[in-house]
Amino acid sequence: MQHRDTETDRCCRMLLGDVFPNFEADSTFGRMKLHDFLRDSWGVLFSHPGDFTPVCTTELGRAAQLSPEFSKRNVKLMALSVDSLQEHHDWSKDIMAYNNTEPGSQFPFPIIADDRRELVEKLGMLDPEEKDHNGMPLSARCVFVIGPDKKLKLSILYPATTGRNFDEILRVIDSLQLTAHNRVATPVDWRPGNSVMVPPRIPETEAAMLFPAGVYTKDLPSGKKYLRYTPQPNTHQQRTTDGELETSHL
Ligand code: BEZ
Repeated sequence: MQHRDTETDRCCRMLLGDVFPNFEADSTFGRMKLHDFLRDSWGVLFSHPGDFTPVCTTELGRAAQLSPEFSKRNVKLMALSVDSLQEHHDWSKDIMAYNNTEPGSQFPFPIIADDRRELVEKLGMLDPEEKDHNGMPLSARCVFVIGPDKKLKLSILYPATTGRNFDEILRVIDSLQLTAHNRVATPVDWRPGNSVMVPPRIPETEAAMLFPAGVYTKDLPSGKKYLRYTPQPNTHQQRTTDGELETSHL
């Protein structure tokens, strides 16, 4: 994906597989450095156009509700906007009230302050169509999923006017984590527990060994045998340092 900074026409690229910049920033959880904050967790960094705005309030409310689901998956959430730390603290109380959370409880994940717009510009998180009171582009609704190796695993970019679906973000994390450990791919609208697909690069003989639960191949008019399904593996496969595939049962 290529991001364009409309003010300077300077491009910055964040491609799948790139190591995510180890930026340092102030957040509602204190000063943080991305890689230290993540340690061996997965991370979701998501930007939003501004504090005290309606769509953002519903989004952060939903992300806060789902935060135990992200934790279960070893994923740390981080929100970001171009407002100040004090505004983030004040707004997070509104979000908790919107969620009908008990007054005084802490907002469950950090909100990063980027009032000098350094990160949104560096990471290409701007929506050129939506401007603030000073005519500056607002932050778009970016979602970056970062793996435990600190590499970018997925990015989705929404305009400021379209709220995200955090159930979908959980769903893609389930797919990313499954496919990180197993040589499978997930089909359209896949949900955990559904059958998965055998990727084209795996020859038939190897597929039979890799997927002892069976491989079903759908007959197609072309006669090509590329639509291959197998039950979702309940094993955890990992590459050793020699590149060998090691399997342990969950
Ligand atoms: C909102 O969060 O409600 C919003 C922010 C910027 C543009 C449109 C909507």
